[in-house]
This record gives sequence, structure tokens and C-alpha cells, in this order.
Amino acid sequence: MIRVGIITASDKGSKGEREDRSGEVIREIVAQQGWEVTDYIVLPDERHELSGKMQEWCDSYKVDLILTTGGTGFSKRDCTPEATLDIVEKQVPGIPEAMRYYSLQITPRAMLSRSVAGIRKDTLIVNLPGSPKAVRENLESIIGSLEHGIGILQ
Ligand code: MTE
Repeated sequence: MIRVGIITASDKGSKGEREDRSGEVIREIVAQQGWEVTDYIVLPDERHELSGKMQEWCDSYKVDLILTTGGTGFSKRDCTPEATLDIVEKQVPGIPEAMRYYSLQITPRAMLSRSVAGIRKDTLIVNLPGSPKAVRENLESIIGSLEHGIGILQ
């Protein structure tokens, strides 16, 4: 059973001003795999808050996979990739390469996602874009390969 933590990066969401539909899409796709969402949080687009929570979950061996949503674009406040790179020990470039490869066949704007993926201790972290549509398209394009990689990590 893979334990999944979801971090939604959203200034509005963290203030209760926006419903987190992207987090719901992640839950639905994770459930289809038979995996369990054990941790979930909505945080503002603050680099240290995001990296701190990722580090905490990795270092306590709480989750096998962290999926973030939001904060991968060009808005001034977007900082999820930077927060991720602050704490990973290894990057996994093939995962965002695959997401952008698949997504570019749907929309040329897929090139605007700056998402990264990486490993800290036993946990894989993958950034997904912010919109529910983009989350579904990106996550569905990679999810079939994640279990093999996570299995090697343990
Ligand atoms: N990828 C897919 N598959 N579908 C989409 O609609 N939207 C793009 C891109 N990736 C999109 C996508 C757009 S418009 C942006 S700006 C970036 O993701 C970053 O999104 P974010 O700022 O919400 O993280």
C-alpha cells in the first residue's frame, strides 16, 4: 500500500477563499490505484512553508509519495518547484519530462509548467500544476510508472 501526502499550494485556498478541487482530483486518481492518502494540507505559496512540510513528511517516513498541486507557473508568488529543489537529495527529471511530453499533445501551454520531481530519503516528490484539468492530465500520464520507482526506493 503506497501512502500518499497531498500538498496544495494556494494563497486563496489556505485562507479558505477557494475550494481545493485539484486536491480532490488527486484523491480520486490515487484511490483508483488502491493507494491511501494519509496526509493532506493546503498551504500558502510560501517557499519555506512548502519546503518545511515536505521535509517533515519525508524525514518522518510518513509518506512514500508527495504530490503537490499548484505554484508551478509564472505568477510572482509561484514557488513550489523552488521549495521542492530546496529539500530533495536527487532530482528525477524524467517524470516532469514525461508529463510535459504527454501534456504538450493536449495544449502547448504545458511548456509553462515548471514542475520538478525528486527524492528525499525514502519519499518521491512530484509537482503537478494547479488546475483540476491539468492535474488529471499530468497525473494520469505518469501514475502507471510510479509504483515501480517507489518500490525500488523502499
Ligand atoms: N498541462 C496540462 N496537461 N493541461 C493544462 O491545461 N496548463 C498549463 C500547464 N500545464 C495545463 C498543463 C498552464 S496554462 C500553466 S500556466 C502551467 O501548467 C502551470 O500551472 P500552475 O501555475 O497552476 O501550477
